[in-house]
Amino acid sequence: MDRRTILTGITTTGTPHLGNYTGAINQAIQSSKNEEHNSFFFLADYHSLIKNKNPEEIRQSSLEVAATWIALGLDTKKTVFYRQSDIPEILELSWILNNFTAKGLMNRAHAYKSAVNENKSNNDSEPDKGITMGLFSYPVLMAADILMFKASHVPVGQDQIQHLEMTRDIAQRFNHLHGEIFVIPEAILNKKSSVLPGLDGRKMSKSYNNFIPLFCSSDDLRKFVMKIKTNSLEPGEPKSTDDSHLYDIYKAVGTNDQTNSFKNKLHEGLAWGDAKEELFELLDSLLSDSRNEYYRLIKDPSHLNSLLLNGAQRARELSVPFLSKIRQLVGIGSLS
Ligand code: TRP
Repeated sequence: MDRRTILTGITTTGTPHLGNYTGAINQAIQSSKNEEHNSFFFLADYHSLIKNKNPEEIRQSSLEVAATWIALGLDTKKTVFYRQSDIPEILELSWILNNFTAKGLMNRAHAYKSAVNENKSNNDSEPDKGITMGLFSYPVLMAADILMFKASHVPVGQDQIQHLEMTRDIAQRFNHLHGEIFVIPEAILNKKSSVLPGLDGRKMSKSYNNFIPLFCSSDDLRKFVMKIKTNSLEPGEPKSTDDSHLYDIYKAVGTNDQTNSFKNKLHEGLAWGDAKEELFELLDSLLSDSRNEYYRLIKDPSHLNSLLLNGAQRARELSVPFLSKIRQLVGIGSLS
């Protein structure tokens, strides 16, 4: 089998929560340990500018996301871990790709379409009200991220599948004109990430404010777990695991044995309060080592920064020559 090149970006908006962990983060870290792959992981900080215009929040989130990945065990020797904004070639490529991207293709992007639909449903006379060019061309920047490092496989959530299709489309168009320059990437659908329920049973998400933070104190973690919604069955009454968010969360983090034993206890009538206590214990033991590491890292931003700069240096060994080749192909650059 060919060596895969796996690449994924994490938008630096907000603090990583348990849903991010059971979905993208854990899977990415596991696959980064596989020596058969090359992996690239990066902080998509320029992408965050699309959603957030608060500089302090963006800075803080970059710090928290970087600390989270390292604390959870990302091996920065086996992977290239960098910050998008440290690789100026990505933005140069993004501009070039803009010129190989049909505007009509971007009109169909979900994020853009839903912003337009929202304006329409508010009866705004201007359907593009409040929509920036950043939002509109977001998929082109994402294509540049992916194509720059010749990624063959891109792990993403369901909401990003369309962006991968667009990346393939853009790459094919460029290749058609200039030869086999770009690798056509495949999406790896990350099924788990879309199913972890939050405290209220809806998908765990920052926007619903129903999430369990990954690295809060033990006391706070207990408080969050106690807030998970359950039904009103009394202690001693058998509880079904089919429609229990508490069970679903347990299952996403527990081993098979732990999960089976938890399931049996619920069927035998374990009280919800005790069930929550068990989930808390499980999460607390799972996260306590990483939590200490996280707090140590967060206090030392210059260490994180140097890890990221080191990753950027390795990334640029690839991006600088590749961009130079692309520029030549399209006729940009030196006259001699
Ligand atoms: N847009 C992705 C998200 O919001 C993040 C991202 C940016 C990304 N560039 C990428 C993911 C490249 C995979 C590959 O989740």
